[in-house]
Amino acid sequence: MTILILGSGGREHAFAWKIAQSPLTSKLFVAPGNSGTNEIAENVAINVNDFEAIKALVIKEGIKMVVVGPEDPLVNGIHDYFLNDEQLKHVAVIGPQKAAAELEGSKEFAKEFLMRHNIPTAAYQSFDHTNVEDGHKFLESLNPPYVLKADGLAAGKGVVILENLEEAKLELSEMLLDSKFGDASSKVVIEEFLDGIELSCFVLSDGKSYKILPTAKDYKRIGEGDTGLNTGGMGAVSPVPFATPEFLEKIEQRVVIPTIEGLKKDNLPYVGFVFIGLIKVGDDPFVIEYNVRMGDPETEVVLPRIKSDLVPVLSAMANGQLDAVELEFDERAATTVMTVSGGYPEAYEKGKEITGLENIEGSIPFHAGAKNVDGKIVTSGGRVLAMTSYGETYQEAIKKSYQNIEKLHFDKINYRKDIGFDL
Ligand code: AMP
Ligand code: GLY
Repeated sequence: MTILILGSGGREHAFAWKIAQSPLTSKLFVAPGNSGTNEIAENVAINVNDFEAIKALVIKEGIKMVVVGPEDPLVNGIHDYFLNDEQLKHVAVIGPQKAAAELEGSKEFAKEFLMRHNIPTAAYQSFDHTNVEDGHKFLESLNPPYVLKADGLAAGKGVVILENLEEAKLELSEMLLDSKFGDASSKVVIEEFLDGIELSCFVLSDGKSYKILPTAKDYKRIGEGDTGLNTGGMGAVSPVPFATPEFLEKIEQRVVIPTIEGLKKDNLPYVGFVFIGLIKVGDDPFVIEYNVRMGDPETEVVLPRIKSDLVPVLSAMANGQLDAVELEFDERAATTVMTVSGGYPEAYEKGKEITGLENIEGSIPFHAGAKNVDGKIVTSGGRVLAMTSYGETYQEAIKKSYQNIEKLHFDKINYRKDIGFDL
């Protein structure tokens, strides 16, 4: 089967790495891809939101399956675009249709879904420019810290957590009245702060049944000890040691099953990965957010722990036959540490040569913001390369990731040295 992966990050390199191993994959394309996917697949310089160009590629190359990495094309309706096109409707698209992608595209939509289906989540209210004063009053009724979320997609920056009431009111006004996050903050969800430890749960859905993948925990802040600005993710660990069988059972019963049932009841067609951001408060799981795709860098630890061939699993998802699939997981722990450009997540330089890749032993370097230029591999983004390792314990795996990062060089390389510190 000829397969196309959309995206260009570490997540997409991990998908390409896994899918390329399948005997069922005859040819693999990645659009636009990076220097990592270039080694195992054919990169095509097409933007993930250029549906016409994607259509032309799919037809020209006889592509039978499209795996959508990032959320943008899903929220923009790529799956619907395929279904509504005579020449494309038989192509399997892994990723939900537009209506279901709103679970990530709109925080308010997600909160309404959670409430409607009695799935545990923080209490909330939402506001727009017509009721900013009510928003201020709602903030006054809450205890700090205050959690404000821009309703729409804001490149991972739309959540602001503030200790001070006056600052929170000002922030709300700026989001709603001064378009702080553009259109994304034309509505704002204000919610109760939940105090606990976070983890992510990944679920495969064929629209009827589900399979739960290994849990993972990512490290979002730039600084050690979870300090400083939010990033796309600086590292990840799987499995999550505090996710005991009892806790996982609660997640399945209280969150996963009602989510899949809710999608069916609400007619939200969902073939794809459901990423459920959870927080453990006491011994109970609460949903912080849904994403309609895999996480990055969580994918770089979750996919390496799937022993089964992924391609028949993806086909079963597309054909509504997920319940017939058996998934086998690797018992070992997997960890990844993201190396980033100095300055990230604020301004940083690009085009720095990456060397030392040939010396890496016993880890899998998943390229993220890295590309080929004149026979060299150079940095092209903030998050540059995720170093993934296995171990009998996560401590052993993380040690291997750090040993191999020592062998990797580029100007102003930065990474967190404490991934897993809180486990
Ligand atoms: P999100 O962009 O929705 O993933 O939110 C970013 C981060 O904000 C999350 O990873 C949490 O650390 C934090 N967060 C979001 N909602 C809450 C909440 N209700 N209580 C505490 N922390 C939250
Ligand atoms: N690592 C978090 C995300 O992919 O959204």
